[in-house]
Amino acid sequence: MRKFVKIKEKIKSFNKTLMIEGDKSLSIRWALLASQANGKSFSSNLLKSEDVLNTLNCLKKLGVKVKIFKNQCEITSNGLNSFNYKKNLILDAGNSGTLARLILGLLVHSKKKIEIKGDKSLSKRDFFRIITPLKKFGAKLNSNNGKLPVQITGTNFAKPIRYFENRGSAQCKSSVMLAALNTKGTTFIKAKKSRDHTELLYKYLGLKIKVIKNKKYDIIQVKGKQNIKPFKYNIPGDISSSAFFIVLTALSKNSKLKIKNINVNPSRIGILKILKMMGVNIKLQNQKKYKGEKIADLIIKSKDSLKAIKCPSSLNSAAIDEFLLIFLVAARAKGISYFKDLSELNQKESPRLIWGSKILNKMGIKNILKKDSIRIYGNPDLNLNKKISINNFLKDHRVFMTSVIAALTFGGEWSIFSKDSVNTSFPSFISKIKSLGGKID
Ligand code: S3P
Repeated sequence: MRKFVKIKEKIKSFNKTLMIEGDKSLSIRWALLASQANGKSFSSNLLKSEDVLNTLNCLKKLGVKVKIFKNQCEITSNGLNSFNYKKNLILDAGNSGTLARLILGLLVHSKKKIEIKGDKSLSKRDFFRIITPLKKFGAKLNSNNGKLPVQITGTNFAKPIRYFENRGSAQCKSSVMLAALNTKGTTFIKAKKSRDHTELLYKYLGLKIKVIKNKKYDIIQVKGKQNIKPFKYNIPGDISSSAFFIVLTALSKNSKLKIKNINVNPSRIGILKILKMMGVNIKLQNQKKYKGEKIADLIIKSKDSLKAIKCPSSLNSAAIDEFLLIFLVAARAKGISYFKDLSELNQKESPRLIWGSKILNKMGIKNILKKDSIRIYGNPDLNLNKKISINNFLKDHRVFMTSVIAALTFGGEWSIFSKDSVNTSFPSFISKIKSLGGKID
């Protein structure tokens, strides 16, 4: 089987409705929290991508009962810190930074040594950012110079900590919040704004958590040793996966798309705000609340003229997984767009700020890349007529899917490698592209 896809034609006009699979961040959080609840928890519309399946496999290895049905998943646990496993267990987090970092938070209390490993991409990512706070709880952690594999030996005598999270990393914040769950006393976190799904889940579960929201930082207090009741959760659609289809529609001719039941948590909709600033026509319909999360249907219409922007970095965290796509919109916009304070983008599955610039270079879009910023010289008339090959050796799912959207909207003859990477976060990506009429081989 070929490991790449070929795209030789732009997508034709479409007017369709799509459903998108469950949100990845919420799917992983549901599973990890269900593993700490006392009894049987259920989820529906859980994302069945590799990152989430790896989460369920890790929990199984830790002695948690996991059953996967067609539309439901069931997790049965004996409550806080009830993992039951043999010493020197090795857990494989695959490609998932969220899984590796969050599960380490739970393992702060597990006395038997465990190793966490990951794939080539995850093994290049920074773990000092989470090792440092978790050590303060009293756990022992060793690593390969801040990289995976990481070994952790937990403690029965964890002490609550004060933690300052200044990167805007929801993974670091959530890992510390999970460690706090089983720690006697109150853990204090001051965290730069980032997605707040963990906070909302704790509130929904009735846990004692206090969140004070300030302009740039949130102050979060978590009281530990509270019993968690088992719970049901219907995971809403993933905005980060929807983003590929939002941008596909925005950049296509005379097209319209409705995407139903998407999580539009304010800490995740940077993409919607940025695209609206650039002139994209996006509307939210049927807005409702579900267990603290906001949900809506999205209506997107294509737009012929797009504006360049100076993107406010206050939107960075809420759009962090969508910048590759936003750069494509900037490539079509009239004028020079500027994106700054994006060093975290190079800490993802691959260095995405660099990859954004590489894709633009291949498309012939002038851009100036600095350490943490990029200036993009848009060309509203760009119509590619050349061969382009994209081969991200770290197999970054978002690099692959962004390249597919570029091929379908800018033209040219593209070969895009590591098509299997979609399984990380969005297994039905290619079939959904085909359902809109996209020709992909
Ligand atoms: C995530 C947080 C973000 C994001 C990742 C998912 C989460 O990472 O990029 O895809 O579910 O908490 P950082 O915490 O590294 O910003």
